[in-house]
Amino acid sequence: MPSTSDAPRVSAKPPNNSGARAWTLADSEELYRVDQWGSGYFGVTPDGTVAVYPDADPNRSIDLHEVVSGLAARDLTAPIILRFPGILRHRMGALRNAFDTAISDSAYAGKYACVYPIKVNQERHVCESIRDSAAQLGFGLEVGSKPELLAGLSLTEGMNGMPLVCNGFKDHEYIETVIIAAKMGRNIIPVVEQAHELKLITRSARLHQVTPRFGVRAKLATAGIGRWASSSGFRGKFGLTVGEILHAVDYLEKEEMLAGLKMLHCHMGSQVFDIRAVKYMVSELAHLYVELVRRGVPIDTLDFGGGLGVDYDGTQSASDSSVNYTLDQYAADIVYRVKSICDDSGVPHPNLMSESGRALVAHSSVLVCEVLGSRVFPTEPDADLLKRALEQEDPPQPLLDAHGAFQQRDTGDIFEAYADAEHALSEATNLFTLGYMNIHARAACEEMFWSIGQAVLDRHRDELPDGLEHLTDTLADLYFLNVSIFQSLLDSWGIGQLFPIMPIHRLEEEPTRRGVLADITCDSDGRIDRFPGEDGVKSTLELHVPPAHDDAEPANPYYLGIFLTGAYQETLGDLHNLLGDSHAVHVELTEDGQWRIDTVVEGDTVSEVLSYVQFDPEDMRRRIRKDIEAALQVKRISLSEATSMRRFLDDGLKGYTYLE
Ligand SMILES: Cc1ncc(COP(=O)(O)O)c(C=O)c1O
Repeated sequence: MPSTSDAPRVSAKPPNNSGARAWTLADSEELYRVDQWGSGYFGVTPDGTVAVYPDADPNRSIDLHEVVSGLAARDLTAPIILRFPGILRHRMGALRNAFDTAISDSAYAGKYACVYPIKVNQERHVCESIRDSAAQLGFGLEVGSKPELLAGLSLTEGMNGMPLVCNGFKDHEYIETVIIAAKMGRNIIPVVEQAHELKLITRSARLHQVTPRFGVRAKLATAGIGRWASSSGFRGKFGLTVGEILHAVDYLEKEEMLAGLKMLHCHMGSQVFDIRAVKYMVSELAHLYVELVRRGVPIDTLDFGGGLGVDYDGTQSASDSSVNYTLDQYAADIVYRVKSICDDSGVPHPNLMSESGRALVAHSSVLVCEVLGSRVFPTEPDADLLKRALEQEDPPQPLLDAHGAFQQRDTGDIFEAYADAEHALSEATNLFTLGYMNIHARAACEEMFWSIGQAVLDRHRDELPDGLEHLTDTLADLYFLNVSIFQSLLDSWGIGQLFPIMPIHRLEEEPTRRGVLADITCDSDGRIDRFPGEDGVKSTLELHVPPAHDDAEPANPYYLGIFLTGAYQETLGDLHNLLGDSHAVHVELTEDGQWRIDTVVEGDTVSEVLSYVQFDPEDMRRRIRKDIEAALQVKRISLSEATSMRRFLDDGLKGYTYLE
């Protein structure tokens, strides 16, 4: 049976066959491919810890492990989300620069603005950071529901000029709020997603005597790409077909509201990984714009929606967790295409807008989790177990066969030894199931088989023969993380998205184990067994031997960082097993190079998550106390046991939902 990490039977071997050469920090950097996915925001410090460069300047860094240890000393324990507003500002600045450069290089006459879709990360502190930078950069916000509309209005209070684009399904109340906000002087732009919304807008505008600016979302023929491909195309949920747009124009003309139709919008799905899809979409939307302008529609802005992707696996390829283009190429392609189509047709260059969310916030959050321990397959069978099994009277043949194979492990043909042990184990399992083999013989067969498998891996990991490729996965260690994948990394579970994961310290030390990660939910799906690798995906992660967990004397925690988690992960999560929101902390780098904690948002307490599912913590406390008292009365438990139970109850209800 797999043993825990505390068991001393593990003889770790280097996973990369680096031989006798001493492990270096550069080896860790290369192994975890930090340069590939880090986009200049992450690196390795001389102390073997992960460095964060909020301004993408390697001379100004924050030591991630130092921050996590500092927070633990303040009782803010992992799992914890570390947000770096500096990275957020830098990403926004990079997007601004990319479009400004493309606009000036192409002598484009229009302007560019990004409106941040708050659904990508609605946490107030994140939105406020973005809003503050947006005010400086000429950006705005995008909302997609009634609650988001209210959030958007409150975030932009006193900022009448800041664009607020309103997408999503709309009812009378939604439209009414938007129209009155427009009358109040807000730069608010509802986008018509369904034909009937047009009527709501015209009716409300007439009632309040205002000519609002509004947009229409086009259902383009250009098929989306990747996981969110169905967001566009004729069968998409949102938007008006070209024919419906023409009807809408006729209708608006009749209603004398055509002057308000200022924006043409589309959205082809998130994480568009192939630049060719962007080019097609831009061309189609730009031609539609030209035709509508010729028809007399006063559109002055093209909004390309979201889709600007993130290179999660660092392969710069057209695959689900990557992108085959840069920010600069994205901007240059949009600007160049719109300009040439407009110039060819002799219509004015429109202003350009994007609703980029993922590309702005993904890099700015890191989820740090603690490894609670690991289970590893033994590299040597337990000597006592083997002796006991072999010394029995008349040992069963599969046991003898497995032992023969085991004796061949170090001297004979290792592949033959593996095949023999595999066969012997299968026969042993059958005999055991039929009641003809005892538990010791069965366990010895398993352990000998695993040890031969480990030997195959140690010697031939990089060139496993056909049929044995599965060994790396089959014999991988299982590392337990104090986190819930369902709460904090839903896209890893839900859509198999890759996130870069690596230890945030001990990088001067060779990681001698290979493992997959399991969370603390009671769900076998709560695991991560796909990691960014050189060819896209690898099934195990190189890890260090975790410290032994001894209750009396807690060991130095071993922390893993899960990177690029700022987009979508924080609010998509659920309360599986009632594991709640984790703590979140904003970390800033000061002018003099020190890190500073700016904002602390404490995670859910046990009481809070219980009340989300309509348990009343007070009532629970009363009931459990009553039970304790009853057990005390009949002397089932002692007074001190009752006290300790009550203390657990009181502390537990106030405490963090994760293991502390
Ligand atoms: C209408 C709209 N705009 C913008 C976005 C944000 O997309 P992304 O995060 O890919 O930039 C989305 C997300 O799917 C969306 O539906």
